[in-house]
Amino acid sequence: SKKPVRVAVTGAAGQIGYALLFRIASGEMLGKDQPVILQLLEIPDEKAQNALKGVIMELEDCAFPLLAGIEAHSDPLQAFKDTDYALLVGARPRGPGMERADLLAANAQIFTAQGKALNAVASRNVKVLVVGNPANTNAYIAMKSAPDLPAKNFTAMLRLDHNRAASQLAAKTGTKVGDIKKLTVWGNHSPTMYADYRFATTNGQSIKALINDQVWNAETFLPTVGKRGAAIIAARGLSSAASAANAAIDHMRDWALGSNGEWVTMGVPSNGEYGIPAGIVFGFPVTTENGEYKIVEGLEIDAFSQECINKTLAELQGEQDGVKHLL
Ligand code: NAI
Repeated sequence: SKKPVRVAVTGAAGQIGYALLFRIASGEMLGKDQPVILQLLEIPDEKAQNALKGVIMELEDCAFPLLAGIEAHSDPLQAFKDTDYALLVGARPRGPGMERADLLAANAQIFTAQGKALNAVASRNVKVLVVGNPANTNAYIAMKSAPDLPAKNFTAMLRLDHNRAASQLAAKTGTKVGDIKKLTVWGNHSPTMYADYRFATTNGQSIKALINDQVWNAETFLPTVGKRGAAIIAARGLSSAASAANAAIDHMRDWALGSNGEWVTMGVPSNGEYGIPAGIVFGFPVTTENGEYKIVEGLEIDAFSQECINKTLAELQGEQDGVKHLL
């Protein structure tokens, strides 16, 4: 049988953690033949550490055959030791009266420390997924704080936006979500993201041609996908957790095990593709194979798409400028 791999998860006692850990432990992320050791990180706060103990008791009680070990930590230098995968979920949420700059600064502190810890102790091939918001900028901060690790191994989660878009398009076209291919979401994980179905197909037919309605695209589809997170908070009183955890599983599984030629969306550092300045962590269409992702290149960007991409890029550059002095 395979040697266990180490999977670190931060914010492990939070909402997303509760929807995520059991699926990792059951083999849904890395395969039903891959044993895992969970290295869980929470803040030192007694309440959080106690909640983490409870989650660990439940993990034990699932008796997952693939779960080869569980560790609870409050120090990233221990939680990230030799880790092969790191899912950075814990972040500082925006509190009442908190300004954007305060939020960026609080998260810059967390992700600088975690990036440095990964740099010091993680596997040299660690695959990092940042879920905690602002996800792209937090991934950028962690990447910049880990100069000895490959920059390309730092990614941000755009997959929830991708899956939300797929679900809306399946409903609109009356087809199955599993039949939708070549969809992507460009840019920031925020309401400015640009979900792009110009190249998408369902059962091999062009979705753009099937829908043939640019007004629906601009005035219904994009706002629905962009504001989906807010709609879920309004309905549930809590932010999306199960769907976010599901997207994290999808992102890591495809990265580790391959997308079989299909496009998926990942937030990854640009190498200058599509005019996005190098280093910006941006949602791109990618294919994945042998543990590596590759940005899909050569797609035509029309005027409407360019405008959308410029908008989400400008927002990201603003965030990046807002943390530069802290790095
Ligand atoms: P939550 O508040 O339920 O849980 C977060 C957990 O992280 C808490 O238990 C907290 O103690 C812990 N934490 C905070 N700082 C930490 C640190 N420095 N080290 C370790 N743990 C730390 O929040 P929830 O619902 O689980 O969401 C987590 C994050 O994911 C939020 O930032 C949220 O905005 C983001 N998110 C991102 C999505 C995406 O698509 N990229 C989708 C949905 C949520």
